[in-house]
Amino acid sequence: MHMTISPGRVNLIGEHTDYTYGYVMPMAVNLYTILEGEKNEKIELYSEVFNEKKGFELSELKKENSWIDYVKGIYKVLFDKNLHPKGIKGKIGGNLPIGSGLSSSASFELAIIDFLNEVYDLGLSRKEMALLSQKAENEFVGVPCGIMDQFVIALGKEGRAIFLDTETLEYEYITIPKDAQIFVFYTGVKRELADSAYAERKKIAERVLKRLNKTSSKYVGEKELKGLPRFYKKRFGYIIRENERVLKARDALKNNDLESFGKILTDAHWDLAKNYEVSCGELDFFVTRALKLGAYGARLTGAGFGGAAIAVVEREKAQEIAEKILDEYLKSFHWKARYFLVEASDGVKTL
Ligand code: GLA
Repeated sequence: MHMTISPGRVNLIGEHTDYTYGYVMPMAVNLYTILEGEKNEKIELYSEVFNEKKGFELSELKKENSWIDYVKGIYKVLFDKNLHPKGIKGKIGGNLPIGSGLSSSASFELAIIDFLNEVYDLGLSRKEMALLSQKAENEFVGVPCGIMDQFVIALGKEGRAIFLDTETLEYEYITIPKDAQIFVFYTGVKRELADSAYAERKKIAERVLKRLNKTSSKYVGEKELKGLPRFYKKRFGYIIRENERVLKARDALKNNDLESFGKILTDAHWDLAKNYEVSCGELDFFVTRALKLGAYGARLTGAGFGGAAIAVVEREKAQEIAEKILDEYLKSFHWKARYFLVEASDGVKTL
């Protein structure tokens, strides 16, 4: 029997930049998808969350719009690469909540590919596993995400965030100051519009890059947007500023300067809200309240349109601030939100 432990992720900063090959700075978090299984001819998996058993023969990779598609997608990209692992019999569980903005789907993909890599000796590097998982998500599941989530789940390190250049895939581990507690808040707002709105943001960003003949948003300055329609300037202007903020936030963390780090995060939130238009009342409420209660900084995390937000707070005050916000949120939105006080974790591993 083997056990694969695959973390979730939060993004500290660098939102909606990865599909323009810009900078991001996420961390893997200590909430996990756990796959326990053994070698088998075909796939036979039980999902604890869905309380459902599903399986397939490896010769039948037809999409069925269920959680098993993530497994099928991984097999598809491996077969396309001429790698031919056999199946798995086992179960999927863990404590990483699904659909709470902590990237449970990327975590699941990496659990499957790491299990296969270890158990069937596929010889894949962590970077390759991240890229293949992204490919499975883009091409098989059909979600046009960037590389951020899969990368940090593959390469995360305890106590560190990853500063990543999503064009070159060069990265650097950045220590998170001991004093800082990352507090994740799940609004309970389902990202219904998310898929189409995300794809639309991505399309515009790609159009701008094409018009300017650039391979990455890193090579674009605000001046170069001059001749473009106002709407394009608004969207891409955000991306340019966000890349700059990631660099500054990285330096602030290196200097143990939580005040500056927090302020950069908050600036990012309001830029996302105003110019990228991916926030909502619930997320804005959280950010405003967290700051009032003394957080260093706060912002939405992930794609936005609902989902989750983070605040960086002093460790000793974290619990108290979290409980207060939950109460206030309940009063304003009549919804019992959830929160997680998370630590930076290692990437996926199979024991
Ligand atoms: C989702 C995608 C990521 C990234 C973020 C926005 O989480 O999966 O690749 O684009 O949105 O920063």
